[in-house]
Amino acid sequence: MAERLGPEVMHSLLDAFFRLALDEVHRYEGTINQFLGDGFMALFGAPIAHENHARAAVLAALGVQRALAAHQAELVSDPALEVATRIGINSGAVVVGRIGDDLRMDYTAIGDTTNLAARLQQFAEPGTILLSEPASRLVRGHVRQEPLGLISLKGKNEPIPAYRVLGVGPRRSPLEMLGEGPLSPFVGRERELSILHGLLDNAARGEGQIVAIIAEPGVGKSRLLLEFCESLLGRPVTYLEGRCVSYGSANPLLPVLEIVRNNCGITDTDTPEEIAGKVRFGFEEVGLDPGERVGYLLHALGVKETGELEKLAPEAIKARTFEALRLLGLQGSQRRLIVFVVEDCHWIDKSSEEYFNMFAESLAEAKILFIATYRPGYRPPWMDKSYATQIALHRLSSQDSLSIVRSILPIPAAPTRLEGTILERAEGNPFFLEELSRAVSERLVSEATLGIPGTIQDVIMARIDLLPDETKRLVQAASVLGREFPRSLLAAIWEGSGDLEVHLRQLIHLEFLSERRGSSESVYVFRHALTQEVAYGSLLTPNLQRLHAAGGQALETIHANRLGEVTDQLAYHYARAEQAGKAAEYLLRAGNKAAAVYALPEAVTAYREALGQAEKLSLPEQDYRTVELSLRIGHVFLLQGGLQECRELLVGHAERVTRLADPGMRGAFHAFLALVYSLEGEGAQARAHASQGLAEARRCGDEITMGRAGYVLALECFWVGELVESVEQGREAAVLLERTGEQWWLGLMCWVLGMALGVLGQIRDGLETLGRVHAIGTAMGDPRLLSIGDWASGLLLAFAGEHEEAVLRCVRGLERSPDPLNSAFALGVLGQAQLETGNVSEALPRLEEAAGLMGLFGFRAMQAWFTIGAGEACLAQADLERAQNLLGQGLHLAREVRFWPAVGYAQRALGLLARRTGDLVAAENRIREALETFASTRGGLDTGRTLMILAELAAAGGNAATATQHLTEAHRLFRERGADRLTERARRTATTLGIRLQEPKT
Ligand SMILES: Nc1ncnc2c1ncn2[C@@H]1O[C@H](COP(=O)(O)OP(=O)(O)OP(=O)(O)O)[C@@H](O)[C@H]1O
Ligand SMILES: [Mg+2]
Repeated sequence: MAERLGPEVMHSLLDAFFRLALDEVHRYEGTINQFLGDGFMALFGAPIAHENHARAAVLAALGVQRALAAHQAELVSDPALEVATRIGINSGAVVVGRIGDDLRMDYTAIGDTTNLAARLQQFAEPGTILLSEPASRLVRGHVRQEPLGLISLKGKNEPIPAYRVLGVGPRRSPLEMLGEGPLSPFVGRERELSILHGLLDNAARGEGQIVAIIAEPGVGKSRLLLEFCESLLGRPVTYLEGRCVSYGSANPLLPVLEIVRNNCGITDTDTPEEIAGKVRFGFEEVGLDPGERVGYLLHALGVKETGELEKLAPEAIKARTFEALRLLGLQGSQRRLIVFVVEDCHWIDKSSEEYFNMFAESLAEAKILFIATYRPGYRPPWMDKSYATQIALHRLSSQDSLSIVRSILPIPAAPTRLEGTILERAEGNPFFLEELSRAVSERLVSEATLGIPGTIQDVIMARIDLLPDETKRLVQAASVLGREFPRSLLAAIWEGSGDLEVHLRQLIHLEFLSERRGSSESVYVFRHALTQEVAYGSLLTPNLQRLHAAGGQALETIHANRLGEVTDQLAYHYARAEQAGKAAEYLLRAGNKAAAVYALPEAVTAYREALGQAEKLSLPEQDYRTVELSLRIGHVFLLQGGLQECRELLVGHAERVTRLADPGMRGAFHAFLALVYSLEGEGAQARAHASQGLAEARRCGDEITMGRAGYVLALECFWVGELVESVEQGREAAVLLERTGEQWWLGLMCWVLGMALGVLGQIRDGLETLGRVHAIGTAMGDPRLLSIGDWASGLLLAFAGEHEEAVLRCVRGLERSPDPLNSAFALGVLGQAQLETGNVSEALPRLEEAAGLMGLFGFRAMQAWFTIGAGEACLAQADLERAQNLLGQGLHLAREVRFWPAVGYAQRALGLLARRTGDLVAAENRIREALETFASTRGGLDTGRTLMILAELAAAGGNAATATQHLTEAHRLFRERGADRLTERARRTATTLGIRLQEPKT
């Protein structure tokens, strides 16, 4: 190159190159040892002892490469020329010369160690970094590398193993959390380490293990893991870590996704395409077909481009995401032993907890060691397994504590009072020991005054106070950004003067912060959570709000086209900045994001926080937001079976709704409230609100709301037995919903329609309509609709006497039910179907449980129906007293909510009960009442069944003509409605009673 460029250009090129390179070396506290024409040698870990010198060297080497690439154009004007470096790294002892006055030039190192590094450098291809075996070993797990096998170097007799650096390791071990500064000597955890190794051995044999490490803050959970992780270097183990954060509880799957990112090597700057490629490779790597699984993980990772997924229901997405994650972990462990670590579970979000709980279930035979750390007060649900072990970390002994103190303070000739005081105050908490010792070494406190602060917070505060003003302001500003933050974010909110870099270096030097090199920029981490908390607590309110506002704005700018990834952080900042409008907006989005993956509790948390913010808004915005949020929360409550909670929430805001200028929102509110009332059995209210919703929606042409209001009206008709009207109403609403593409509600509408048709006795039409529920459920992947399609068609089949198929479908419906409300439904309906088949002993407990649940939810119509079912079961078991009780209760309740078909069932069952006790008159009266009820609802099959009972009663009373008349009528009803089994049953009854059915006139 020198020839082509000429000496002058070459000289300025080298000059520029050295400037860039030296910056990188110094950044990692390396020292330039020698300049060699167009190269140089740098030393790390000498003369300044540096714990992680090998890593520092690799990071500096990568930094040099990066700097060169970034400044290529400035270095050479000819695009055909490329400036590339060859780098060799070795680790070992060096003999160093005397340090002269000019530290940089006179410092020499000689010996085989530097020699080998130089030979590696010569061997390297341009643009590559080579490592010797000792260097490679030291950085394993932190640096991605590829073995090159044995290579022969000039001046070496034997070939030696070498490795090529591929980049920074994907995993972020606790080591990096604890920073790159020197750590105190590790003491007093031999027993815990050996327990971990023992459990790891079990896991390696295919007996998966769960471990919990529990201790107060600062006692050393993370450090124990760090040491454990380091001890795994060189073993065939994959170590994957995820962390929960204090503001993460509304952020579903945070630690789970961090593990995925680490596993696939995804970095913050990857483009969506790169992420997709890495995730796909993650599956292929373990021999799984990526197929559609990739889509679920990308969706969870917040990378858009989900296409097909949009049509799926949140529950389906969630279930499939969990399954994809679980498979990835399990399949991976078949290839290689995996250690999964979840740090700080006391801050875990509900979805992650649910996922890990499910994951823990499948570990018994996997080569997996699953470790969770948390502070006391939390208990994960997965600790009840036989393969779970808890390790509670105890405080350090005085002896061990002393070694920590003495690693920071000068070692005295004899134990001093000061040391004694530190030990006493720190009570064996290593973090406290370190902080106190540092405070002493920074001369914050002295032996003379012995004014040692009483709490660890005081110690930290004292250390912060000692900082120069600007540095102190920086640490406070940083604390606003959280435990961990990228440099650009800090730079954006930094208001102080002076060089940010200088202040940051100082904070790192004093071990407040540590630095992690991200792929594009540095990320800084508070070395301990408490430090951040104390710095944050020291801010005065106006400053705090200003900084949070600045943090929010900076995030909006930096993530302008990817706001979805940081909604929770934005909400956090704006809430604390007292900017309620923005806070509510981002919290609403965070809630929607959670609800979209069916993380219901997280969604409620976010929405509730948003409500809190909305309250601070001025009118009319306050009203609009509050109502909007209440509808969202209400929907989640409904799925969870919280009818009363839902109604109270909505009714509480009724006044706001009247004030709203927006008919769309008013309509949506009334239509939704109508549904809640309808399920609660408050028919009058339900109809009133549905009509109001309908009227509002009409005014603004909102067909979705019109369809939903129509759904409620159809439901109302169904309860009161106006089945024909229900079908009419339902068909109309279905048309609207279909037109707007509102599939989910259309599915529900078809359910009501199908049921109404079924009760009318139009079994075939009913089944066909329920088939649509199923089809929509399949298209959307919505387990709720699928479940409803199953159990509802099961029920119709039971009505028609097709018992075996009925029970099968009900069981399937129950199995795939995703939410509490629907599960209670499915359970009760299964009980009803079993009752029909005569399997009373199984039916009774199901009906009782379902009735209890519906009572709890406040869904009174269903409570009534299942209570009556339980009464019928008791009757079948000849437990007459209980039957009487249950039937009485059920009848009362059914009347109260005007659920007429159920009233008929209760009357009929009471008639049968009377027959059983020999009171034939009462029996006949009751049965006739039932017949009237069914006639008024035009319940075809039920009318037929009731007529059969009347026929039996008449035959028993010797009244053959009446019996014949009733039975013939029943037979006709069954036949007309295509209920073959019932038609068959009517024929058999006729034979038994010796009756000749009159053939219908054709
Ligand atoms: N056994 C030990 N020997 C020496 N130093 C230790 C030991 N355990 C912990 N430390 C040091 O104490 C400090 C706090 O430890 P660590 O961060 O592991 O606490 P933690 O239990 O994870 O706390 P938190 O609950 O806040 O996460 C660290 O600087 C760590 O190096
Ligand atoms: Mg920790």
